[in-house]
Amino acid sequence: MKSCDPLAQLIAAFRAGIAKATGCDSGSIDPQVKVSGDPKHGDFQCNAALVLARAAKVNPRDLAGSILQATELGDLVDRTEIAGPGFINVWLSATAIARMLRELSGPSLGIEPAPLPHAVVIDLCGVNVAKQMHVGHLRATIIGDVIARLHERLGRKVWRENHLGDWGLPIAMTLASLRRQRRDFRSLTLDDLNAAYRSAQLEATSDQAGLQAAQVAGAGPHRLAELELQNQLACAAEQDAKSTLLKLQGGDAATVADWKQLIEVTMTEVLETARVLGVHLTDQHSRGESFFRDRLAPTVDAFVSSGLAKEDAGAIVVTFADRERPMLIRKADGGFLYATTDLAAVRFRVQELDGGHVIYVVDARQRDHFKDVFDGVRMIGWDTLSDGTHATLSHLAFGSVLGTDKRPLKTRSGENFTLRALLDEAIERGVQQVMRRATDPTSTTHGMAESELRSIGAAVGIGAVKYADLACDPVRDYVFDLDRMIAFEGDTGPYIQYAHARIASLLNRSGQSAEAIAAADFAITEPAERHLSLCLLQFPHVVLNAAETLSPQRLCAALHEIAIAYSGFYQSCPVLKAPDQAVCRARLALSRLTQRVLAEGLSLLGIHAPLRM
Ligand code: ARG
Repeated sequence: MKSCDPLAQLIAAFRAGIAKATGCDSGSIDPQVKVSGDPKHGDFQCNAALVLARAAKVNPRDLAGSILQATELGDLVDRTEIAGPGFINVWLSATAIARMLRELSGPSLGIEPAPLPHAVVIDLCGVNVAKQMHVGHLRATIIGDVIARLHERLGRKVWRENHLGDWGLPIAMTLASLRRQRRDFRSLTLDDLNAAYRSAQLEATSDQAGLQAAQVAGAGPHRLAELELQNQLACAAEQDAKSTLLKLQGGDAATVADWKQLIEVTMTEVLETARVLGVHLTDQHSRGESFFRDRLAPTVDAFVSSGLAKEDAGAIVVTFADRERPMLIRKADGGFLYATTDLAAVRFRVQELDGGHVIYVVDARQRDHFKDVFDGVRMIGWDTLSDGTHATLSHLAFGSVLGTDKRPLKTRSGENFTLRALLDEAIERGVQQVMRRATDPTSTTHGMAESELRSIGAAVGIGAVKYADLACDPVRDYVFDLDRMIAFEGDTGPYIQYAHARIASLLNRSGQSAEAIAAADFAITEPAERHLSLCLLQFPHVVLNAAETLSPQRLCAALHEIAIAYSGFYQSCPVLKAPDQAVCRARLALSRLTQRVLAEGLSLLGIHAPLRM
């Protein structure tokens, strides 16, 4: 048990006490210990008596009394009370708080390794070759990165898997269209690819229906001829794409070389965006759809031979007992689908990467897809690990990014925003903000070199965008509102960055060395010190909980609460002008610990914590 986690210690103490008082087996007891919502009712509450008394048909206040009697709290607590119908309220002792703060200020900040028997696999980013990254990829990339960081921090083996969309007809269409235009593949940009992708899609939509409608409607000969030609061109483009796909699949050297070039161009930009975002994503993390190409036919065969898939009008489908919607795994023309690749990928991740938990950070609109894939995998048993246990498969579904008009975010001309354009704007806004503050002669940034101010500004802009995204429940849609995100006040990234930087500057002004501050004793006397300490002491638990429940928003909320608590402390407890040296040193120690926790928390969110802002 963590010696710096008051919640864990109270849970253990009350669990033993309840077992003693009731004779229940301690393993089956939930002692219902919670952080108290109101300091009037103590720091923590144990609410078990209410629940247990109902079942045992005894008076809850009496039961609370005997639980309290049987619970050994030692010097952890210096006051308890039984309140209302049978709540047990407890106040931690100042000595215990100081001791736990000392524990927390060790090198690992109270976060102990929590290894798992198997690896954690995180499907993140998921961009498509020849397409610009848009805001949806922002979410898949940064949420995935934070989940990975949290698990890594807990000492777990993590695989970051960028399931790049690099295979199949859409890519072949783009490839074919660029080849028809005789483009030089070595000088292409992602914008070129994106344009080719879109025109290829338009070209290839064969207009059979339009042609028939025109014939029925008796359109004039000119119009008919025009449509006829369009339709022929579309069919030709489609044919061309199909034959390009065959060449690609067959390993034709020239086609493969061009295809690799498309991937190269796409990845150069994706990795650059990841760098700007401060996300840990490299070439090493790319394992695209093409990686699974030789596993698609065997996947379909396995489903067919185990009787889980059957033929339906030439196609192969998997059906489920509880729903009408089948999962298509092979088209009538023999082509494989997105689902086929994902089935093969889950198998690989569980059986070859040893993934005990496979987490898909993907748009909520793909919920049905993952439900089908996961159910299919479980039916065929591909979720079985080498030790016979079953992997947990999770779809961490995220909502959409909306414009201030509450509609999906679009540019004024109605196009999708590219992620780069959005990030460039955020950086620009961050830079403006930081530059403006630096003109104030009392600001710590006054007189800094422009290049330094720019890099702080970039950290603020990117921090603002990332925090706003991570701070809300992933499944919810949110409004992309740079004005709100970038404010130094409110529940924003810059607010937390600023709290951190202000502490850094305070410590700097104290003239004390880091070692002296680190060696000082904690002393908790004021309510604001107590409140801040209790917020800090929750940090290790929050990190573990955010990782286990895939909830970056819980870490954000905890950091925001700490920043607010620090500001309350700073207002009511003078640090440099403290009544005496010992109090000054204790408050510096508390400030230093707060700074470290904020820096660590921001780093787990992949957000920079500048020392000056
Ligand atoms: N490329 C897909 C898209 O843009 C996302 C991939 C998600 N990962 C997966 N294993 N299916 O929609």
